[in-house]
Amino acid sequence: MHIHPSLLSADFGNIESELASIASADAAHLDVMDNHFVPNLTFGVPVVQRMIELSPIPTDIHLMIENVDTEAVKYAELGPHSVTIHIEASKDPVSTCRKLREMGVRSAVAIKPNTPVSSLSGLLEEIDMLLVMTVEPGFGGQKLIAQTMPKVAEARALISGSKFEIALQVDGGVTLENIGELAALGADTFVAGSSVFGSADHAQRILELRKSAASGLNQ
Ligand code: DX5
Ligand code: ZN
Repeated sequence: MHIHPSLLSADFGNIESELASIASADAAHLDVMDNHFVPNLTFGVPVVQRMIELSPIPTDIHLMIENVDTEAVKYAELGPHSVTIHIEASKDPVSTCRKLREMGVRSAVAIKPNTPVSSLSGLLEEIDMLLVMTVEPGFGGQKLIAQTMPKVAEARALISGSKFEIALQVDGGVTLENIGELAALGADTFVAGSSVFGSADHAQRILELRKSAASGLNQ
């Protein structure tokens, strides 16, 4: 069970202490948005670079941007743990994922709620993580779209039926209440923005999310 708090809901005026507050998580999830692929704008290479330097844990970069095939490399150069591209934004996901791996970065591909899991079936050989978006990408604090739940199970079946070891991440509206069900459906990596940064004690919430995910798995 991997918990990746999303810095989108952090206090950007205190980014160093916000990163320190999630040191017990598995990775810091950094949402890059360009106001084109999604209707929101966050930060780019220089800010991500500084966040990677300040982060006590590995970083997981989620690119919600156009021209991702050329842009992904610039983020990989910063030395994160993984870079996630959206299949909807990529003209050549195979070569982009290969490039990421050649640079020593784990490659990941995301699908939006209306993109079928089957669109990734030809990519399994190229990826270390598959991200099923459980909200429309763009904003933190949204409610999980229930219709995306079956896609988590479908993605798990696709991975299990392959010979590849691929993490299955969910992102959007993950809470203490639904994380167990997501784990039971086959997710093993959970992005949580408002749930972690909206809580009074971030470390405590990370622990609670871990426990709830594990209990869902054991049911
Ligand atoms: C949404 C981002 C998410 C977001 C999740 O487009 O990709 O990572 O920060 O936030 P919560 O957990 O609040 O839904
Ligand atoms: Zn994200």
